[in-house]
Amino acid sequence: MSDSGFFVSVEGLDGSGKTTQVGLLAQTLATTGRRVTVVRDPGSTALGERVRDLLLEPRAGAPVSHWAETALFLASRLQLAEEVIRPALTHGDVVVSDRYLDSTLAYQGARGISRSEILELHRLFGLTRLPDLTVILDLPVVLAQTRRESGTAPDRMEQESSSYHERVRAGYLDLAGQFPDRIVVLDADRPADEIARQCGSLVKDRLNVGRAT
Ligand code: TMP
Repeated sequence: MSDSGFFVSVEGLDGSGKTTQVGLLAQTLATTGRRVTVVRDPGSTALGERVRDLLLEPRAGAPVSHWAETALFLASRLQLAEEVIRPALTHGDVVVSDRYLDSTLAYQGARGISRSEILELHRLFGLTRLPDLTVILDLPVVLAQTRRESGTAPDRMEQESSSYHERVRAGYLDLAGQFPDRIVVLDADRPADEIARQCGSLVKDRLNVGRAT
C-alpha cells in the first residue's frame, strides 16, 4: 500500500553522531511545513523500549543467541512500524528514524546472519515499507570508539570487539553499493553543523522542497 509520507533512516556506528544528526534534521525539516515524526529503532513504543533494554543491557551470563538477538530487534521494529511509522506515513508525515533495517543487515550481518535471511524475515513479517532515503554516517571505528568512550558506560553491543565493529562498518559501506538509489554515505569526521547542512539539503532535495524556483 502506498502512502504520501517520506521515510528517512539515519545509520552509523555507535559514536558516529547519528542521534545528534537526527535531532538537527528534524529541526530543519520542521521549517518545511511538513509534519515530522522522529523515532528510534529499537524503541519508541512501550514494547520496543522494553525490548531495547533487554537487548542493550551489558553482557551478563550466557551469550545471547544470534537468532534470538535478531528476532528481538525485529519484534521491536514490527511494533514500531505498526504503531508509529505506518500511521505517520499514511498521514503524510516525514518520518526520521534513528536506525532501521540497515542496522540489522550490518550488525546481525556481522554476526554471520545473511542479508537474504534478514530481508526474507522482513518480507514474512510484512515489513516491506523501506526507507525512501538512508543516510549512513561513516566514521573509522577507532574514531567512533573514542567519541563513545567520553560518554556513558558501554552497552552490550558497544562491548563487542573492534573487529566486530570493523565488520559492521564494512557491511554498511557494502550496503551502500548494493542499494545506491536509497543509501547515501556521508563522512562523519566533520563538524556536526557541516554534516547537518549536507544532510538537510539531501533530504529537502528528495522531498522536492527548498529548491530555487
Ligand atoms: P543506539 O540506538 O543507541 O544506536 O543503540 C542500538 C544498538 O543496537 C547499536 O549498537 C546497534 C544495535 N542494533 C543492532 O544490532 N541491530 C538492529 O537491528 C538495530 C536497530 C540496532
